[in-house]
Amino acid sequence: MSAYYESSRGVSEYLLFHFGAPENIFEFPEFAFPEWTSYPKRCVQLGFSRERLNPQPGKPSRALDLGCAVGASTFELAKYHDEVIGIDFSQAFIDAAQKLQKLGHVEFDIPVEGQITRRTSAHIPSDIDRSKIRFEQGDATQLRSNIGKFDTIFAGNLIDRLPDPEKFLVSLENLAQPGAQLILTSPYTWLQKYTPQEKWLTTQNQHTFESIHQILNPGFDLVQSLNIPFLLREHRRKFQLTLAQASIWIRKVELNR
Ligand SMILES: C[S@@+](CC[C@H](N)C(=O)[O-])C[C@H]1O[C@@H](n2cnc3c(N)ncnc32)[C@H](O)[C@@H]1O
Repeated sequence: MSAYYESSRGVSEYLLFHFGAPENIFEFPEFAFPEWTSYPKRCVQLGFSRERLNPQPGKPSRALDLGCAVGASTFELAKYHDEVIGIDFSQAFIDAAQKLQKLGHVEFDIPVEGQITRRTSAHIPSDIDRSKIRFEQGDATQLRSNIGKFDTIFAGNLIDRLPDPEKFLVSLENLAQPGAQLILTSPYTWLQKYTPQEKWLTTQNQHTFESIHQILNPGFDLVQSLNIPFLLREHRRKFQLTLAQASIWIRKVELNR
């Protein structure tokens, strides 16, 4: 686990990444790229289908956001589900998400230049029912045994932060109701500091997406894959541009195991 995800700098960068208005991210109006901001919300908007949501008769619809960070995708999932659980390993991220849930807004400082910072804020839209959400600090690879099953599972940019991504992917089958939607996104940035190389989902001849397909195939049907760009602001004049791949899956009713 990275110390960055527990640091105040990490919390500020992620609050801006999740909730920042384009004009707060780009202070130069001639370079505004709104289609590269609000990444977690866009992942849900692009990946989740209201038509495919099919909860069990008489049961509440349930969504799970694994590696939710400061929670923008969790809040977005709350628009469409009766219950949403957001889980992240970082206590600092969960604290920020819980504060947003309680108050509906938080203030934070973003880096501008050197020691100069600027106060800004994150707001949750008033049409989102924040009471449907539960944010928990936890390990997506060792969830509490009574967590139950879900109609929608989102794991945004998580798999390349895990020590054993294959084991994690296999575990999703048991968390998903038959017919459930699974949305995975990742830029597949494999790094030894998170994932030992022998656990990367790549070989010389195979890209990550093919490995995911092989691992998930017994339990899930692939619906679609698409590319989703995003920008992380480091400071006023420096950004990290990434192109994540999203893949959308439906849990099979009959497993091929
Ligand atoms: C690259 S960030 C992505 C966050 C968010 N989903 C997004 O797309 O902005 C990876 C997140 O996964 C969390 N994380 C890493 N390992 C985890 C684990 N085993 N269980 C739960 N969360 C984990 C980190 O704390 C961090 O918030």
